[in-house]
Parts: sequence; C-alpha cells; structure tokens
Amino acid sequence: MEIIIAKNYDEMSRISAEIIAAEVRKNHDLTLGLATGDTPVGTYKELVKLYKEEGLDFSKITTFNLDEYVGLAPLHENSYNYFMKENLFNHVNINPSRVYVPQGNTNDPEIFCEWYENKIKEAGGIDLQILGIGRDGHIAFNEPGSSFASRTRVKALYKETIEDNARFFKKEEDVPRFAITMGIGTILEARKILLIANGKKKADVCAKFIEGPVTSMITASALQLHCHATVVLDEEAASMLTRTEYYNWVRDNKKLVQKKIGR
Ligand code: PGA
Repeated sequence: MEIIIAKNYDEMSRISAEIIAAEVRKNHDLTLGLATGDTPVGTYKELVKLYKEEGLDFSKITTFNLDEYVGLAPLHENSYNYFMKENLFNHVNINPSRVYVPQGNTNDPEIFCEWYENKIKEAGGIDLQILGIGRDGHIAFNEPGSSFASRTRVKALYKETIEDNARFFKKEEDVPRFAITMGIGTILEARKILLIANGKKKADVCAKFIEGPVTSMITASALQLHCHATVVLDEEAASMLTRTEYYNWVRDNKKLVQKKIGR
C-alpha cells in the first residue's frame, strides 16, 4: 500500500483528483469505480475544475458506483444516484449511458446484483476504484464481518453507519437499514484502488486498516491484499499511524525508489 499524507482536506482532494485525472488521460475509455459520502466531494470538485479549465475528457469513460440505499428511487435526494449527479455527473461531459449506480428501488435486488456484476465484467472490469472509509472500517457498505470473497449484494447497515449517515436525513429513523453494495471480492478485482480519508474521527480506523492485521472486522484491511492500492489521508486521519516518517520518505523519494526497482 502506498500511503500519501496530505496537509489538509483540500490537498487530499487535489492529490486524489490528480491521481484519477492521470488515469483518465492515459486511458480515455477508463472504467472508474466511484464512491459517495463527504470525503470525495472535494475530489469531485477538483475533477470538475480540471474538466472546465483543462478540458479533461470524461466522454468515453464508464463508471460504476459502489453502493445505494435499498428503497430509495434514483431521483430521491438522499440517493447516491442523486449525489453523483449533483457532485460530478451534471458538471462534466460524462456520457449518461455509461454511468451505472445500483438501483435502490429495484423489485428484485438479487437479480439486480447479478446484473450489476455482469455489467462490470462486460465493461472489462474496473480500472481504478475510488473508496472512502467508514468509522467502523467499512469500504462501500461492507460492514464488519463481510466476507473478503463477497460480491455485489444486499447488506444490513451497522449501527455506527446509520448514526453517521443520519446527518443527511431529517431523522435517524429515515436512514434505510439496507443497502446494495459491491462486495470486497468485487472491489479487490479492480486493477487499482484509491482510498481517501480525512479528519480526526477516521484516525483510529486508518491506523487499524493500514498497520493492523487483515481482518473482516475492519473490511478496509482487505486492501493489504491488493497489489496496487494507494491511500491519501489528511494529517488528522494519519495522526495515529506509527510509520509516518517512512511513508513520507517514500513519497519524497518516489523517483529514487522507482529507479531502484526499474520502473
Ligand atoms: P464519509 O463516508 O465520506 O461521509 O465519511 C465514508 C464511508 O462511509 O465510506
């Protein structure tokens, strides 16, 4: 895992947007896995800026979102489909026919999940998957105890997740209790992974998933099994890591490291 520690949220957003933009520039028909939540909002703002100021071209990319609340229609203002339109899709030249967000109000979630997995396969798999992390260590809605082999499915939300997400709803009782989510197995098949996190409240879980044991109790720790995972944290989220000096040295000497290993 490559760990990049940014000074603050804005720098974290700029670095992560630059990592995504570099992949889009290299491969115009990239398949990009997208995340929702507060964390990626700044990253999406930076991507919109790159589109407007530099003409970063999204017209041929395909996107797959990680998850969606069960029961919410795509136009519901708390749906992740709505979030994506508000924060990214409506502001760049993305082709709506290449955009996939799980359908929360599907009549048959099981069939839908199978269809979603097949769509990812048909698209040739995900080239770069963006992730946030929950306080309970979840990636997407893979709550503690999720199998590392899991695929897209319906998952019951953990108490902490419901509490954390209540801020987007009128009251806690309105937060859906279930979500359709890509599985850990689905996520680990992405060719590259970029996880972003910020703020003090993520410090404990970031130290655990980066430097602790691999465990389904912290599903983000599955990233330790991935050969191309990058984590961009702000200083607060990185504040409980014990090997900060090493991560910073690697970051500052990346060119030297790449030369040594012949990349
Ligand atoms: P947040 O959520 O970005 O709103 O903190 C992250 C997550 O739960 O994955």
